[in-house]
Formats: sequence, C-alpha cells, structure tokens
Amino acid sequence: HKDIIALKDLTKEEIELLLNTADSLDEINRRDIKKVPTLRGKTVVNLFYEASTRTRTSFEIAAKRLSCDTVNITASTSSVTKGETLSDTANNILAMKPDIIVMRHSISGAHEYLAKRVSCSVINAGDGAHEHPSQGLLDMLTMRQKYGKLAGLKVAIVGDITHSRVARSNIYGLTTMGAQVFLAGPPTMMPVGIERLGNVTVCKDMREAVDQADVVMMLRIQLERQGKTLLPSMREYARYFGLNPEVLKLAKPGAMVMHPGPINRGVELSSYVADCDQSYILKQVSNGVAIRMAMLYHVCGGEPAEG
Ligand code: CP
Repeated sequence: HKDIIALKDLTKEEIELLLNTADSLDEINRRDIKKVPTLRGKTVVNLFYEASTRTRTSFEIAAKRLSCDTVNITASTSSVTKGETLSDTANNILAMKPDIIVMRHSISGAHEYLAKRVSCSVINAGDGAHEHPSQGLLDMLTMRQKYGKLAGLKVAIVGDITHSRVARSNIYGLTTMGAQVFLAGPPTMMPVGIERLGNVTVCKDMREAVDQADVVMMLRIQLERQGKTLLPSMREYARYFGLNPEVLKLAKPGAMVMHPGPINRGVELSSYVADCDQSYILKQVSNGVAIRMAMLYHVCGGEPAEG
C-alpha cells in the first residue's frame, strides 16, 4: 500500500505482516539500539491538526530510529491559522519532497482526500471519529504478545464509542483477526447500527461485556467532541461505565486492562485499576514505537523483516 488510512482496508494477512514486522523491528528497541539505517534518506512530515502526546512522539521516535529525517508541523503554530486550506498546505509541503506525511485531523475522511491529491505516502494518525489505525495495530500487537493469538479472544470495549476512532479501528482489526468484540457504553455514546461494522455484540450493561473477557479496553469520554450538556453526567458515567476492581473481577483472571490514553482518572477507570498489575497501558505506549516503525517501513516498500 502507498498509504495506510484505515484498518477496514487491510486483510488478515496484511495486519499479520504489520504485526510480525513490528515484533521483528522491536528487537531494535529491546536491545536499546538508538538508530538503524533502514530508511536513511527518507523524509517524514508529521502534520498534526489536533493535539497529541503519544502518537506524534512515537511516530517521530519510530522515524528517527529508522534514520528518517523528521519535521513536525502543528496546525496551531502554522499558516493554517491564517486560513490556508488542507490542499494548499499539502501541496506546499509536497513541494519540499517528503516521502511520507503522517497526519492527524479532526475531520473524518481528511486522509482519503489528501492521499488522492499527493504522490507521497499518507499515514493516518487519527481522523475525527473515523479511524486510528496505528492505535488499533499497537493494541492488537499488545494482545498478541500476551496471548500468542487474537482469534477467539473476548475483547470488551467500553465507553464513548460514538466519538472513538480507536474503537472503530479495533472493531475492524480485531474482527478481521477473528476476535469477539463486545461493546458497552451509555446509549447516548453508542451509535445506532454500530454492530453492522463487524461481528460485534452491543451490551447495555458493561458487566455483560466484561464478563469472562480476556481484554477490557476502556475509552476516554471525549469531552472536546460532546455537546454543551454531558449525558450521563461524569458522576453517573463513572458509576455505571467506570472500571473498578469489583467490575474487573468479572473478567478472566489476569485479564488485560487497556486504554489508549490520555486517561480521565476516576472517570472511565479508577486510579487503582490504571496502575494495577493487569494494566498494559504503558506497554501499549512502548509498542506504539514498534508498530509505527513497521508502518513507515511498509509504506516505503519494505519487504517482510526476517529473523
Ligand atoms: N492514543 C492517542 O492517540 O494518544 P495521543 O492523543 O496522545 O496521541
């Protein structure tokens, strides 16, 4: 693929290839090697129209570890603030001959629009409520490292599904790989017809989703995308859809607790659960570097890594 826009577009074999490549390239991280020459001479532009800590930093570290040159552009300090359109911004960046644009944008579909207009590769670092493919891949990598497989796992995804690009990428990726996905969240945050995205089960009660789950993935309430009134209130949300030790006990013993970050501590999960032995939240962040190395490698035409 020239671009990686959505996990919906990837086959089981393509997802497996990316996960295998990430596992191989992670050897570089495990051995604390700061740089390999694999993508020397390639230029990566990180173009972020929305805030990010994990995704932007790990794409930059991933690119640097593969010896790419990297440039970061944040919309809020760029000429976007003077009214420049996405097409004009992209064409001006393109005039400087980058090989890859990694973009985060608040509008669903912005990457598809961009990819059709530029000759370089485009990687989606999150578009509106559509997809966040690198997050879905790093989540699957983290699960596969613990369980050795994805097929047959019960994965509960709980929270603000409506606004969650992380949920959509995980639904597409996990169901393609044969996992069973159970969704739970307030009806106000559960889009009508979501079950049609893949083989997913929608639960009214989070306990039903968490019951005997191998993985419990909690999502952040995206306050920046809500209307003026939050329904349910934060307190009600924490009571009915927050993960605490009592609810976690319903999952399989040792079940993984995951969260893409940033966390609203005390809302979607208690601080105790966020920091407990079953939490893989920081492992997800570490795996983000390996997955993004694999994505950069593949859009540059990399062959499957060996060894
Ligand atoms: N998970 C995630 O996308 O985090 P950031 O918004 O910090 O990149």
